[in-house]
Amino acid sequence: MSELTEGRGSGPGTRGARLALRPMRWWDIEPVMELEHQLFPEDAWSRGMYWSELADAHQGGSRHYTVATDGDGAIVGYAGLMAVGAESDVQTIAVAEQQQGRGLGALLLEDLIAESARRGCAELLLEVRVDNTRAQRLYERYDFAPVGIRRGYYQPANVDALVMRLDHQTTNHTEEDHG
Ligand SMILES: CC(C)(COP(=O)(O)OP(=O)(O)OC[C@H]1O[C@@H](n2cnc3c(N)ncnc32)[C@H](O)[C@@H]1OP(=O)(O)O)[C@@H](O)C(=O)NCCC(=O)NCCS
Repeated sequence: MSELTEGRGSGPGTRGARLALRPMRWWDIEPVMELEHQLFPEDAWSRGMYWSELADAHQGGSRHYTVATDGDGAIVGYAGLMAVGAESDVQTIAVAEQQQGRGLGALLLEDLIAESARRGCAELLLEVRVDNTRAQRLYERYDFAPVGIRRGYYQPANVDALVMRLDHQTTNHTEEDHG
Protein backbone atom coordinates (compact mmCIF):
# COMPACT_ATOMS: atom_id res chain seq x y z
CA MET A 1 0.00 0.00 0.00
CA SER A 2 1.31 3.47 -0.87
CA GLU A 3 1.62 5.90 2.01
CA LEU A 4 2.61 9.51 2.67
CA THR A 5 2.96 11.32 5.96
CA GLU A 6 0.30 13.96 6.44
CA GLY A 7 1.76 17.44 6.90
CA ARG A 8 5.34 18.42 6.11
CA GLY A 9 6.68 18.38 9.67
CA SER A 10 5.84 21.98 10.59
CA GLY A 11 2.94 24.41 10.62
CA PRO A 12 -0.63 24.16 11.86
CA GLY A 13 -2.52 20.93 11.44
CA THR A 14 0.55 18.74 11.24
CA ARG A 15 -0.28 15.50 12.99
CA GLY A 16 2.17 13.12 11.38
CA ALA A 17 -0.80 10.90 10.50
CA ARG A 18 -0.57 8.58 7.54
CA LEU A 19 -2.18 9.15 4.16
CA ALA A 20 -2.93 5.83 2.51
CA LEU A 21 -4.45 4.50 -0.72
CA ARG A 22 -7.13 1.79 -0.93
CA PRO A 23 -9.71 0.66 -3.51
CA MET A 24 -12.84 2.86 -3.75
CA ARG A 25 -16.07 1.13 -2.63
CA TRP A 26 -19.72 2.08 -3.09
CA TRP A 27 -19.95 3.54 0.41
CA ASP A 28 -17.22 6.04 -0.55
CA ILE A 29 -19.46 7.65 -3.20
CA GLU A 30 -21.09 10.16 -0.79
CA PRO A 31 -17.80 11.61 0.58
CA VAL A 32 -16.34 11.55 -2.94
CA MET A 33 -19.38 13.52 -4.20
CA GLU A 34 -18.73 16.22 -1.59
CA LEU A 35 -15.17 16.63 -2.84
CA GLU A 36 -16.31 16.33 -6.47
CA HIS A 37 -18.52 19.44 -6.16
CA GLN A 38 -15.76 21.42 -4.45
CA LEU A 39 -13.02 20.39 -6.88
CA PHE A 40 -14.97 20.36 -10.17
CA PRO A 41 -17.53 23.16 -9.59
CA GLU A 42 -18.27 23.58 -13.32
CA ASP A 43 -18.25 19.98 -14.49
CA ALA A 44 -18.82 17.66 -11.52
CA TRP A 45 -19.76 14.05 -12.24
CA SER A 46 -23.11 12.87 -10.97
CA ARG A 47 -23.62 10.24 -8.26
CA GLY A 48 -24.99 7.93 -10.98
CA MET A 49 -21.75 8.20 -12.96
CA TYR A 50 -19.77 7.00 -9.94
CA TRP A 51 -22.18 4.11 -9.38
CA SER A 52 -21.81 3.15 -13.00
CA GLU A 53 -17.99 3.41 -12.91
CA LEU A 54 -17.76 1.31 -9.72
CA ALA A 55 -20.06 -1.33 -11.21
CA ASP A 56 -17.16 -2.20 -13.53
CA ALA A 57 -14.41 -1.88 -10.91
CA HIS A 58 -14.54 -5.56 -9.88
CA GLN A 59 -11.78 -8.07 -10.61
CA GLY A 60 -11.55 -8.46 -14.38
CA GLY A 61 -13.61 -5.28 -14.95
CA SER A 62 -12.47 -2.35 -17.07
CA ARG A 63 -12.29 0.15 -14.21
CA HIS A 64 -9.84 0.71 -11.33
CA TYR A 65 -10.75 3.27 -8.64
CA THR A 66 -8.62 4.31 -5.68
CA VAL A 67 -9.25 6.62 -2.72
CA ALA A 68 -6.69 8.33 -0.48
CA THR A 69 -7.55 8.49 3.22
CA ASP A 70 -6.06 10.58 6.04
CA GLY A 71 -5.11 9.30 9.48
CA ASP A 72 -8.78 9.47 10.57
CA GLY A 73 -9.94 7.43 7.57
CA ALA A 74 -11.54 10.47 5.87
CA ILE A 75 -11.32 10.55 2.08
CA VAL A 76 -8.94 13.28 0.90
CA GLY A 77 -8.41 12.22 -2.72
CA TYR A 78 -9.52 9.81 -5.40
CA ALA A 79 -8.62 8.65 -8.90
CA GLY A 80 -10.04 6.33 -11.55
CA LEU A 81 -8.79 4.43 -14.58
CA MET A 82 -10.53 2.80 -17.54
CA ALA A 83 -8.55 0.10 -19.34
CA VAL A 84 -9.86 -1.57 -22.49
CA GLY A 85 -7.47 -3.64 -24.60
CA ALA A 86 -4.19 -1.81 -25.17
CA GLU A 87 -5.64 1.58 -24.23
CA SER A 88 -6.28 3.12 -20.86
CA ASP A 89 -7.67 6.48 -19.75
CA VAL A 90 -7.42 8.55 -16.60
CA GLN A 91 -11.12 8.97 -15.81
CA THR A 92 -10.62 11.34 -12.90
CA ILE A 93 -8.08 12.45 -10.32
CA ALA A 94 -8.60 14.88 -7.45
CA VAL A 95 -7.13 15.89 -4.09
CA ALA A 96 -8.94 17.84 -1.33
CA GLU A 97 -7.83 21.48 -1.32
CA GLN A 98 -6.27 21.34 2.15
CA GLN A 99 -4.12 18.35 1.09
CA GLN A 100 -2.92 19.70 -2.25
CA GLY A 101 0.78 20.38 -2.90
CA ARG A 102 2.06 17.51 -0.74
CA GLY A 103 2.52 14.88 -3.40
CA LEU A 104 -0.83 13.13 -3.01
CA GLY A 105 -1.85 13.88 -6.61
CA ALA A 106 1.44 12.31 -7.70
CA LEU A 107 0.80 9.26 -5.51
CA LEU A 108 -2.67 8.76 -7.02
CA LEU A 109 -1.32 9.22 -10.55
CA GLU A 110 1.43 6.68 -9.87
CA ASP A 111 -1.28 4.23 -8.77
CA LEU A 112 -3.11 4.65 -12.10
CA ILE A 113 0.08 4.43 -14.16
CA ALA A 114 1.11 1.24 -12.32
CA GLU A 115 -2.34 -0.32 -12.85
CA SER A 116 -2.32 0.59 -16.55
CA ALA A 117 1.12 -1.02 -16.93
CA ARG A 118 0.08 -4.05 -14.84
CA ARG A 119 -2.82 -4.65 -17.24
CA GLY A 120 -0.42 -4.58 -20.19
CA CYS A 121 -1.78 -1.39 -21.75
CA ALA A 122 0.46 0.26 -24.35
CA GLU A 123 -0.64 3.79 -23.51
CA LEU A 124 -2.44 5.90 -20.94
CA LEU A 125 -4.48 8.87 -22.20
CA LEU A 126 -6.20 11.74 -20.40
CA GLU A 127 -8.12 14.92 -21.02
CA VAL A 128 -7.40 18.02 -18.97
CA ARG A 129 -8.93 21.49 -19.17
CA VAL A 130 -6.66 23.79 -21.18
CA ASP A 131 -6.82 26.28 -18.25
CA ASN A 132 -5.78 23.66 -15.63
CA THR A 133 -2.05 24.28 -15.76
CA ARG A 134 -1.42 22.78 -12.31
CA ALA A 135 -2.76 19.39 -13.35
CA GLN A 136 -0.91 19.64 -16.67
CA ARG A 137 2.39 20.19 -14.80
CA LEU A 138 1.72 17.08 -12.74
CA TYR A 139 1.11 15.02 -15.90
CA GLU A 140 4.21 16.44 -17.62
CA ARG A 141 6.32 15.39 -14.64
CA TYR A 142 5.16 11.84 -15.37
CA ASP A 143 6.09 12.11 -19.08
CA PHE A 144 2.60 12.66 -20.47
CA ALA A 145 2.90 14.56 -23.76
CA PRO A 146 0.21 16.71 -25.43
CA VAL A 147 -1.32 14.99 -28.48
CA GLY A 148 -4.33 17.14 -29.36
CA ILE A 149 -7.19 19.43 -28.40
CA ARG A 150 -10.89 18.50 -27.99
CA ARG A 151 -12.93 21.64 -28.63
CA GLY A 152 -15.71 22.34 -26.13
CA TYR A 153 -15.10 19.02 -24.33
CA TYR A 154 -16.10 20.43 -20.93
CA GLN A 155 -19.76 21.45 -20.85
CA PRO A 156 -21.64 23.56 -19.92
CA ALA A 157 -18.53 25.73 -19.42
CA ASN A 158 -17.57 25.08 -23.10
CA VAL A 159 -13.88 24.77 -22.26
CA ASP A 160 -11.46 22.88 -24.53
CA ALA A 161 -9.60 19.77 -23.36
CA LEU A 162 -5.93 19.13 -23.92
CA VAL A 163 -5.42 15.42 -24.66
CA MET A 164 -2.22 14.01 -23.17
CA ARG A 165 -0.63 10.61 -23.65
CA LEU A 166 1.85 8.46 -21.77
CA ASP A 167 3.55 5.79 -23.87
CA HIS A 168 4.37 2.82 -21.61
CA GLN A 169 6.79 1.45 -24.20
CA THR A 170 9.09 4.46 -24.05
CA THR A 171 8.78 5.33 -20.36
CA ASN A 172 9.68 3.29 -17.34
CA HIS A 173 8.56 4.82 -14.07
CA THR A 174 9.97 4.39 -10.64
CA GLU A 175 9.08 6.41 -7.55
CA GLU A 176 12.72 7.55 -7.37
CA ASP A 177 12.30 9.31 -10.73
CA HIS A 178 9.77 11.72 -9.30
CA GLY A 179 10.46 11.72 -5.57
C1 LIG B 1 -4.36 18.40 -9.95
C2 LIG B 1 -4.35 17.86 -8.52
C3 LIG B 1 -4.96 16.46 -8.52
C4 LIG B 1 -2.90 17.79 -8.04
O1 LIG B 1 -2.91 17.25 -6.72
P1 LIG B 1 -1.75 17.60 -5.66
O2 LIG B 1 -1.92 16.67 -4.54
O3 LIG B 1 -1.76 19.05 -5.37
O4 LIG B 1 -0.48 17.21 -6.53
P2 LIG B 1 1.03 17.16 -6.02
O5 LIG B 1 1.13 17.60 -4.62
O6 LIG B 1 1.54 15.82 -6.36
O7 LIG B 1 1.73 18.21 -6.97
C5 LIG B 1 1.23 19.54 -7.03
C6 LIG B 1 2.31 20.55 -6.67
O8 LIG B 1 2.74 20.37 -5.34
C7 LIG B 1 4.16 20.27 -5.31
N1 LIG B 1 4.53 19.30 -4.28
C8 LIG B 1 4.42 17.97 -4.36
N2 LIG B 1 4.90 17.42 -3.24
C9 LIG B 1 5.29 18.43 -2.44
C10 LIG B 1 5.87 18.50 -1.17
N3 LIG B 1 6.16 17.40 -0.49
N4 LIG B 1 6.11 19.72 -0.64
C11 LIG B 1 5.84 20.84 -1.33
N5 LIG B 1 5.31 20.83 -2.56
C12 LIG B 1 5.05 19.64 -3.10
C13 LIG B 1 4.53 19.75 -6.66
O9 LIG B 1 5.85 20.12 -7.02
C14 LIG B 1 3.53 20.44 -7.52
O10 LIG B 1 3.98 21.75 -7.78
P3 LIG B 1 3.62 22.48 -9.13
O11 LIG B 1 2.12 22.55 -9.19
O12 LIG B 1 4.28 23.78 -9.00
O13 LIG B 1 4.18 21.60 -10.22
C15 LIG B 1 -5.11 18.81 -7.57
O14 LIG B 1 -4.62 20.12 -7.74
C16 LIG B 1 -6.62 18.81 -7.74
O15 LIG B 1 -7.32 17.96 -7.20
N6 LIG B 1 -7.16 19.79 -8.49
C17 LIG B 1 -8.62 19.91 -8.67
C18 LIG B 1 -9.17 18.78 -9.51
C19 LIG B 1 -8.44 18.67 -10.84
O16 LIG B 1 -8.20 19.66 -11.51
N7 LIG B 1 -8.11 17.42 -11.24
C20 LIG B 1 -7.45 17.14 -12.50
C21 LIG B 1 -8.48 16.90 -13.56
S1 LIG B 1 -7.73 16.57 -15.14
